Amino acid sequence: MQSPIQSSMQPSITKPLVSLAGPRATRRDFLYVATAAVSAFGAAACLVPLIDQMNPDAGTLAAGAPIDIDLGKVEPGQQVVFRWRERPVFVTHRTPEMLRALQDPQLVSQLADPQSDELQQPPYARNWHRSVKPDYGLVIGICTHLGCIPMFYSQPNAGSPAQNWLGGYFCPCHGSKYDLAGRVFSGVPAPYNLPVPPHRYVSDTLVRVGENPEGVSFDFGSIRQI
Ligand code: FES
Repeated sequence: MQSPIQSSMQPSITKPLVSLAGPRATRRDFLYVATAAVSAFGAAACLVPLIDQMNPDAGTLAAGAPIDIDLGKVEPGQQVVFRWRERPVFVTHRTPEMLRALQDPQLVSQLADPQSDELQQPPYARNWHRSVKPDYGLVIGICTHLGCIPMFYSQPNAGSPAQNWLGGYFCPCHGSKYDLAGRVFSGVPAPYNLPVPPHRYVSDTLVRVGENPEGVSFDFGSIRQI
């Protein structure tokens, strides 16, 4: 029997798959989330298990239904993770400092595909911030090398997780580096930028992942590599 969500195609707001305590995590739902690097300790990121807070249900999501995300609950500098089509979606609320960093020529000169020439995003995300709104980033959290889940280290650091770190995503498997928009650095194993899922704004703070803005047709299956 079709669920109301499937029949109406109006997704409920999906809660982030995050529980810092995580006691209810199951193997099925065990993904990782890299949380924000905003702490008094200057910790760049931490890994915590995700739990089952899926709405709509996991079966519907696996079938590819859109999900709605309330961005009003994502603090500046924070990253939260959702699941769409059985893949982690990293959602970041970028601060003005992060936005400046994305445009820093020192960073841009180190990127393999700074203009997003490769088809790794919808056309409306082919810009310096790789999203509809600069303040919010949405990328699929799967390394384009061999599929590990990168970690979020938002703050620059001289030596960690890599030398002269400028802030972004680091894949611990083989050392690939991405900036805060998921643009891959030159000279690392990963060949492409992190994919950007289709997304459109239903309201100022509600974004729907899995649908394009009106008038745009973009097939996520057409991207070069996930
Ligand atoms: Fe990410 Fe190899 S899987 S660097």
